Parts: sequence; structure tokens; C-alpha cells
Amino acid sequence: MASLIEIRNMCKIYNPGENEVRALDHVSLSIGENEFVAIIGHSGSGKSTLMNMLGCLDVPTSGIYLLHGSDVSLMTDDELSDIRNQEIGFIFQGFNLISNLTAFENVELPLIYRGVSKRERTNLAKEALRKVGLENRMDHKPSEMSGGQQQRVAIARAIAQAPPVILADEPTGNLDSHSTKEIMNILKTLHSEGRTVIIITHDNDIAANAERIVHIEDGRITSDSSNNGNLNRDDIDKEIRGNSTMYGSAPDEDENGAEEFPDTETIIVANEINLEPEEKPEDDYDVNVTEDNIDLHLNGEN
Ligand SMILES: Nc1ncnc2c1ncn2[C@@H]1O[C@H](COP(=O)(O)OP(=O)(O)OP(=O)(O)O)[C@@H](O)[C@H]1O
Ligand SMILES: [Mg+2]
Repeated sequence: MASLIEIRNMCKIYNPGENEVRALDHVSLSIGENEFVAIIGHSGSGKSTLMNMLGCLDVPTSGIYLLHGSDVSLMTDDELSDIRNQEIGFIFQGFNLISNLTAFENVELPLIYRGVSKRERTNLAKEALRKVGLENRMDHKPSEMSGGQQQRVAIARAIAQAPPVILADEPTGNLDSHSTKEIMNILKTLHSEGRTVIIITHDNDIAANAERIVHIEDGRITSDSSNNGNLNRDDIDKEIRGNSTMYGSAPDEDENGAEEFPDTETIIVANEINLEPEEKPEDDYDVNVTEDNIDLHLNGEN
């Protein structure tokens, strides 16, 4: 049976020419259904670039990406949009909530764009918020919630339509250790329910939650090992060193990888929006969200 995700010899070169950056350098990676994989590496190693490829948010310079055995490069924009909408739940470091919508409205918004009926999206949004333990915070706006609660709203938004794959880029990067634990427990639960969870991180402690740890360095996969659940961050350091000829030193504890969001993450959100004239969010909410500015809203720049 074909893997869920099969990447072969993928390269991504930004700014081809003299100042080119080889962000992915002949990466090959297979991920099966219901795996829990951490992709770990230093800042600039290519993690977000790889996530953008996995999420069909960007196209590689060369190489092959098969999703459920289908070649992504042959898909139409509509097919790619459907995959992003229905197959993958995205979670980002900065939560990307809309500040003047409540938790409930934030979770409901993508469902409006997807044409889900009012009754169904109310059920889905409430159920997703309940799942992340926020049934009592549905009417709160992001500014009235802690960082951990905001990220839980973002997770509820990502899982409301039960996508089989969760792609999370540094989902706990802005959170304290308590909230980090909560978020990781939610991701573990989603995995135990049968979802494929792929988490991008520069933190060994976070990676230790996963069943499989893929290390990326300078755009290349330098180790790929299973985690029996007993690894701590020192073990992971050793594991990485033992498997890698390229890996020189352990990640710095204080390294703070992803403070900013690649532009591609912003673009996607806008790409996914298919505004139905009869049911735009402006009709539902007192907020000026349009196809042009939704990416700004979702990045908190409003
Ligand atoms: N749009 C872009 N244009 C040019 N270079 C880019 C672009 N996006 C990323 N890069 C470069 O590609 C390399 C990989 O970047 P990427 O964002 O994938 O790293 P990362 O591992 O996610 O880092 P971090 O932990 O800091 O988020 C880096 O050298 C980065 O500067
Ligand atoms: Mg990154």
C-alpha cells in the first residue's frame, strides 16, 4: 500500500542564481498513516520549507511528492485547495487567530468558507472547542485568553473538520512549559485517535513526544529514527549524533528558531478562501474580513 506521504529527492532552491539558498537538498521521506513524527533541526535548517511542501503550500524546485500515491505536481489548484482544506489541519507558532472574533467564531470561520451549514458548523466548532477543553471560553476573544488557550483555539480550528493529517510548525514556540504540556497532550490524543501528526520543532523535549524523529540539517535529512517513548533530550542528542555524519553539536538550549512566519504560510490562508457571495463572513460578523486582507488578520497584523 502506498504511504500517506512519499517525498523523493526533493530540492527547494530559493533565489536561484548567485545568491541561491538550497533550503531542501535531495530530501526523501515516507510517512505512513497514523504516524507521530517530529521534524527537528536548527533555525534555518529547512523545517518550515519542508512543512510548506508537506502541506502543499509551496512547490518544490525538483523532486516528487506523492500524497496517497497521487503526484501533487499534477494536481490542479482546486484539487490542492481541497487537500489543504479537508486533508490537513495547520497549526502555527503564532496561533493566527482573528483578534476581534470570539473563540467560537474563529473556529467557525473556515467552516463558513467551506460552505458548511450553520447548524453543522455550530456543532463542529463546539465539539472541537470541547475537545481542547475550552467549552467555557467560547465567547472569549483572543485578547481575553492566555497564549495556551489561544493555541488551543487554533487547534480546535484546525481539527473542526477532522482532517486526517495535523501539520504543526513550532506549535508551542510561544508558550510556557505548562501550556506546552497541554498542547502536546492534545496532539498525542489526536494521534491516538488515528490521525497522522507531524510536528516541526527545534526543541528536543518537544520531539521526545513523537514516535519517530527526523533530523534535518542544511536542508538534508541526517537521521531518521523511531522513538520508543523513553528518550529524553540527551538521548535524542546522542541518537542524532550517532546516526549523523553531518551533525556537529547538540542544539543550543536557548536557540529560538521560528520567531517569524515564512511568507508562504500567510499566502496559503488567502489561497484557501473560496468566498461564496451569499455567505461571506461580513454577513455573519461585525468584522471586515475580505479575501484580500484575511491573511493579515490571521497573522495578527490587524
Ligand atoms: N522565501 C524565502 N526566500 C529566500 N530564502 C528563504 C525563504 N524562506 C526560507 N529561506 C531560507 O531557506 C532556509 C530554510 O528556511 P526555513 O524557514 O525552512 O528554516 P527553519 O528550519 O524553519 O528555521 P526556523 O527554525 O528559524 O523557523 C534558510 O536559510 C532561510 O533563510
Ligand atoms: Mg521555521
